[in-house]
Amino acid sequence: MFRAFHWDWYERSGPGSELLGRLDGKTVVELGAGIGRQAAHLAVTRAVAEVTALDSSPSMHARGLKAYGDIPGLRVVRADATAYLREHPDTFDIAYSVFGAVDFTDPRRLLPAIATSLRPAGILVFSTLGRYRNGQEPETEVRAARLPTTLADGTPATMERWVLGLPVWERLLVRAGLEIVDVETVDDAGRDDHPPVVTRILRAVRPVGP
Ligand SMILES: C[S@@+](CC[C@H](N)C(=O)[O-])C[C@H]1O[C@@H](n2cnc3c(N)ncnc32)[C@H](O)[C@@H]1O
Repeated sequence: MFRAFHWDWYERSGPGSELLGRLDGKTVVELGAGIGRQAAHLAVTRAVAEVTALDSSPSMHARGLKAYGDIPGLRVVRADATAYLREHPDTFDIAYSVFGAVDFTDPRRLLPAIATSLRPAGILVFSTLGRYRNGQEPETEVRAARLPTTLADGTPATMERWVLGLPVWERLLVRAGLEIVDVETVDDAGRDDHPPVVTRILRAVRPVGP
């Protein structure tokens, strides 16, 4: 039921939940949790005080409630990440995203909201594409790709995905008031019909003091 916690695209290499640091007694939020697999993993395997699995999608939320709604210490919440975090200042010790809300939300709005919702010394960890999946280099400016998608009712639509170069993420994090702790790259060469994917994992901290 609870697969290993991975940050990388194919969920088969690189670091796991240890990147989140000590979790005992901590208040944690996953941003764009999908049905909440990783959050459920943390609630069951690590002594977190509470982990909130946040997702804006009604269908993901419904599936998350059905699969994991009874797990003690896990809250399955349907909300837009930016709005929710703004309503919860100084609340979380740890915020994280696994190809989640951070990949699909304008970082000029979301990152400051994350900084606001973290307690002093709180950390943000997120995994994101280091390069487009077709191998194209990431953006050198704060610019989203518009990708075709299909809504739950079958209607074609477009969505934004933020595939940004490392210097762009670093500038955005600093502008949001966060300090970069470290960056890891998981370079998966791919195999069979799985093309190579570069996963970038960034960690940042809300500084203590003004
Ligand atoms: C690619 S899925 C990743 C889900 C999960 N992290 C996983 O690895 O299984 C991205 C998720 O982010 C959610 N999402 C995107 N933007 C969001 C936002 N602004 N607030 C909350 N959820 C968001 C989507 O609804 C979707 O479920």
